[in-house]
Amino acid sequence: MRVLIIGGGGREHALYLKIKESPLVKNVLILPGNAGIANTDRILNTDVSDFPAILNIIKENNINLLVVGPEIPLVKGIKDFFNKEMPDLFVFGPDKNGALLEGSKIFADEFMKESKIPAPRAKSASSLEESLEVLDNFSLPVVLKADGLAAGKGVSIHDKKEAAEKKLREIFSDKIFGTAGEKVLFQEFLTGEEASLFALLNGKEAIILPTARDYKAAYDDGKGPNTGGMGSFSPGSTLSEKHISLACEKIVKPVLEKFAYTGILYIGLMVNIDKPEETKVLEFNCRFGDPETQSILPMIEGDIIPYILWSCGDNDIIVPKIKEENYYKIPQKHGCTLNTVIAAEGYPFSYEKNIELNLPEKLPKGIHIIHAGTAEKENKIVSSGGRILNIVAYGKNLPEAKNLVYKFIETLEKTNDFKRLFYRHDIGS
Ligand code: AMP
Ligand code: GLY
Repeated sequence: MRVLIIGGGGREHALYLKIKESPLVKNVLILPGNAGIANTDRILNTDVSDFPAILNIIKENNINLLVVGPEIPLVKGIKDFFNKEMPDLFVFGPDKNGALLEGSKIFADEFMKESKIPAPRAKSASSLEESLEVLDNFSLPVVLKADGLAAGKGVSIHDKKEAAEKKLREIFSDKIFGTAGEKVLFQEFLTGEEASLFALLNGKEAIILPTARDYKAAYDDGKGPNTGGMGSFSPGSTLSEKHISLACEKIVKPVLEKFAYTGILYIGLMVNIDKPEETKVLEFNCRFGDPETQSILPMIEGDIIPYILWSCGDNDIIVPKIKEENYYKIPQKHGCTLNTVIAAEGYPFSYEKNIELNLPEKLPKGIHIIHAGTAEKENKIVSSGGRILNIVAYGKNLPEAKNLVYKFIETLEKTNDFKRLFYRHDIGS
């Protein structure tokens, strides 16, 4: 089997490593990948949304499986394009309709209302005037969400009406989110603990993947602005069997019924620990999470390729799965993986690039460096994005994985310029 992965972050580097382990795979290419991946496996200078160019690459390299990492090509309909142009190609991910669950927060909200999926109280607005009226009648704190894709920056929480009004003016008048901000979803502010649930769907059934906990705030103790995620561990701590079982019944089932959804369904939840039935959906994503994938994939027992093919609709394939009361889960290793992200000072706002990185050739046992925003320049590895590296360790338990990660980061601090880099010290605390 020959595989092409689309994307260049930590998530895609983790997918590349897991897919490469498969005895069913002969060759893995990645477009564009990052400096953690050998140049011979990378395809540069092609946009992830240039479907005709990707079609040529697929034909030239006899690719049979296309694994799409990020949401943009999915929301733009990469699956629909290849289903039409190359019906024999396996494409991992949902079609355009399914991907709209992430592509439009209002579409997702309407679907949740129609399917009675537990979600925050919400209202949408499509002009400044209308939004100010909604604001007048909405309780504080209020959550404002740009309807379309906004690179993880489209959500803001306001406990003062003036601040919410300012944001709405920025969205509708200054167009800070461009067309993604043509409509806005107002949501009730929920409290509780957040958890991400990842389900692999094949249009008819679901298999639940190891759970993960993501740390969205930039700094320790949840302080600072929201980021794409500064660390994760798996299995995540807050979802009980009861929570997962209810999520399968109340959330995953209607998604399968409505969309015949294939690929990864990532459900962001606000968990009610004591009353699982009051757990609510914060968001849907149509792809793996980043940085959750970096800790989830190493927890999956065995080969991932049969699962990917199963999800792409390969009816001949039988995959090992564990039956729970009303759902299946993927066989999972014992122990725990923890991932701490090293980012450029200033991220998620403006930050410096080209920070030189000095990484040891030989890594301590149990440690993996998963690259994110890295590039090669004059034979050196330099930063090329806000999130730069993921330090991942596997341990018998969470404290062991955590200890391994932070001990290793201490050694990195001796050879790298941590005045220009930062990380959270409390992942897994
Ligand atoms: P989203 O992209 O919709 O998940 O929003 C990004 C982050 O904003 C979430 O991970 C939460 O931390 C926060 N958030 C989103 N919606 C709500 C809500 N209704 N109540 C409280 N926090 C929220
Ligand atoms: N870690 C959050 C996301 O991937 O959306």
